[in-house]
Amino acid sequence: MAVLFRTDKSQMKALPDISRVLAPIGVRLEHWEIPGDQTLERLLSTPRLDPSEQEKVLHFFLPRFDHLKKTLGYQTQDLIVLSPDLPGIEALEEKFRSIHTHDDDEIRYIVEGEGIFGFVLPDGDQVELLVEGGDYINVPRGAEHWFRLTPSRRIKAVRYFTSREGWVPLYTGRALSPAFA
Ligand SMILES: [Fe+2]
Repeated sequence: MAVLFRTDKSQMKALPDISRVLAPIGVRLEHWEIPGDQTLERLLSTPRLDPSEQEKVLHFFLPRFDHLKKTLGYQTQDLIVLSPDLPGIEALEEKFRSIHTHDDDEIRYIVEGEGIFGFVLPDGDQVELLVEGGDYINVPRGAEHWFRLTPSRRIKAVRYFTSREGWVPLYTGRALSPAFA
């Protein structure tokens, strides 16, 4: 379950409380239980997955994708699998560590592992949100945010797209709060 960290070092764990903090910037957080299935559990516990294994994982989440297609117009999905031994992991982390926006929503369903999204609130204050298996997050287009891995450097997440073009980082040049830098 997600945990929100404030710059004053306080934490929030209740979903309604977290949602209240993130609502003014349009970020939506939900929790969708991961289906209980032995094949899925085996695949998710494997650090690296080949393309056919990734397809197998995505198959378990097709009902979610169909719903997003119908309600939000999403066209494609893929599975991102990050692990400490992935070639280029440092460069990838660096790319999303600075505050940026996208021209399209950034939608992620975390299915294993964990990661941290950071957000700039309307008053300029910043927060970080730890997300883990079962957390679904929708970061709206134009919202200033960043992403970083935890020390485990391990996450698997379904990404949903309306177009790939809308999902490049546009850096805003804003500095990270010293609490999160
Ligand atoms: Fe992003």
